[in-house]
Amino acid sequence: MVAAGRPELNRIHRGDCVELMGRMEPGSVGLVVTSPPYNIKNSTGNGLKCGAGGKWPRARLMGGYGAYGDDMPAEKYDEWQRRCLGAMMRVLSEDGAIFYNHKWRVQNGLIQDRRGIVGGFPVRQVIIWQRSGGINFNPGYFLPTYEVVYMIAKPGFRLKEGASKAGDVWKIRQESGNPHPAPFPVELASRCIAATDAAVVLDPFMGSGTTAVAAMNNGRGWIGMESSAEYCAMAEERIAAAGPPPAASAGPEREGN
Ligand SMILES: C[S@@+](CC[C@H](N)C(=O)[O-])C[C@H]1O[C@@H](n2cnc3c(N)ncnc32)[C@H](O)[C@@H]1O
Repeated sequence: MVAAGRPELNRIHRGDCVELMGRMEPGSVGLVVTSPPYNIKNSTGNGLKCGAGGKWPRARLMGGYGAYGDDMPAEKYDEWQRRCLGAMMRVLSEDGAIFYNHKWRVQNGLIQDRRGIVGGFPVRQVIIWQRSGGINFNPGYFLPTYEVVYMIAKPGFRLKEGASKAGDVWKIRQESGNPHPAPFPVELASRCIAATDAAVVLDPFMGSGTTAVAAMNNGRGWIGMESSAEYCAMAEERIAAAGPPPAASAGPEREGN
């Protein structure tokens, strides 16, 4: 159970992140590092929408994220993500920042940047995460090889001394062997965390526990939120294998369904 205040540290809290963050004290964390579902099954042109898989019949996200389908109408999805960002902003301290990883994509022949989500939030910088390769059979545009990380910062946010030298294009390979359908690499989360002095990192879409592993590697505390019981268990296992067991290791807290 997440009591009002700050949820227990170094644990994954199972449930809807907007609801869980709503129970937190305003300004109670210094850093958020996260990557939401991309609404990928609603995408035009990749065959995932109709369920046929198109050119990617074996795509790992064909089934969505377990119980979560990842196929909202576009406007509803943007509204939901704006609610999520609003909840993150509320729990963020006045010197904190959100590193929000997302992907631009071509929809009906036009680039869909994510202004519909981040418009109006204090985006200070867009970091390019240059991935290793990708797949694109569409002759209408070049193979997309990057994702973005929006650095959404409260006014008092400053990078740690020397961190700005890293620049705003980060070349980081995806990792293999993670059973989650859409993880980001530990290195990506680690760079965000290491660039700040934040003592506690929140990831409201914890998935397989990548942000927790990166936080532990950097000697920081963490708070995880995740709606899927399956991914909570996956993350707990991975986190236990990556480092010393968290102080409270009784398994993920159960919230909601
Ligand atoms: C892109 S994945 C995150 C992957 C993570 N960065 C990793 O490296 O494993 C998004 C996650 O959000 C979870 N999710 C979907 N809706 C949610 C909600 N309302 N609250 C919390 N988690 C949710 C999904 O189950 C999925 O694991």
